[in-house]
Amino acid sequence: MIHMLTSLSELSHRKQHGPPLAVLTAYDYPTARLLDEAGVDLILVGDSLGMVVLGLADTTGVTMEMMLHHTTAVRRGVKRAPIIADLPFHSYETPEQALENARRLMDAGADAVKLEGGITFIPQVKAIIESGIPFVGHIGMLPQSVREEGGYKKKGKTPEQIDCLIADALALDEAGAVAIVLESIVPEVSSRITRLTKASTIGIGAGKNTDGQVLVTPDLIGSFPWFRPPFAKARANVAGETLRAVQEYVEECRMAKAE
Ligand code: KIV
Repeated sequence: MIHMLTSLSELSHRKQHGPPLAVLTAYDYPTARLLDEAGVDLILVGDSLGMVVLGLADTTGVTMEMMLHHTTAVRRGVKRAPIIADLPFHSYETPEQALENARRLMDAGADAVKLEGGITFIPQVKAIIESGIPFVGHIGMLPQSVREEGGYKKKGKTPEQIDCLIADALALDEAGAVAIVLESIVPEVSSRITRLTKASTIGIGAGKNTDGQVLVTPDLIGSFPWFRPPFAKARANVAGETLRAVQEYVEECRMAKAE
């Protein structure tokens, strides 16, 4: 039985009947094409591209132009899986700006857009959803707030944080989000959110009881060896294979003239 998602409209059926969603990030044509062919349910053009592709310290330096450039490349590689594209830092400060930039991402080939935040951003979220653009929320640890927060911190450890997370999730759900990414949240809190929402929850570092899981693909395939979060299991060693192949090639080039 084939379970691969082909449209965002299948999300609510999947939430009720399973199996859980398998979601990965892509930033370029070959990776996107391979993920699509491998059966990934949803492909996220995440602003994590700033770190794992562009070598920035965090996601706050990612611009709309970068997101558009990479979304266009991913679109070319994907035939089936719905594509979600991130609205980068400072690209959704007002409802008007959020809507304008969401439309640009959709024109570049996204099927849905995502932004980081809950209740504070409901006017932006409503502007996007009311225009007919499918929307994905993102709560918990928010990488775009890393500088304000002074680091990447797990969420849902105190009663106040739990109340805020639940209120954010319910507000996004009520506004009509099709899915909500739960990042770095205490597992009991993410399972509670999953039970309370109609939207599909997609966890990353948030335990197993969500409607799906997302990983940053370079963490999964081991192509960014300089940092990998503890919850992400590398299932390949692309960095190691690249080093081996390149060193072998360098060696062979140097030997060629001597023969
Ligand atoms: O940018 C990204 O890759 C993300 C995931 C971590 C969910 O938002």
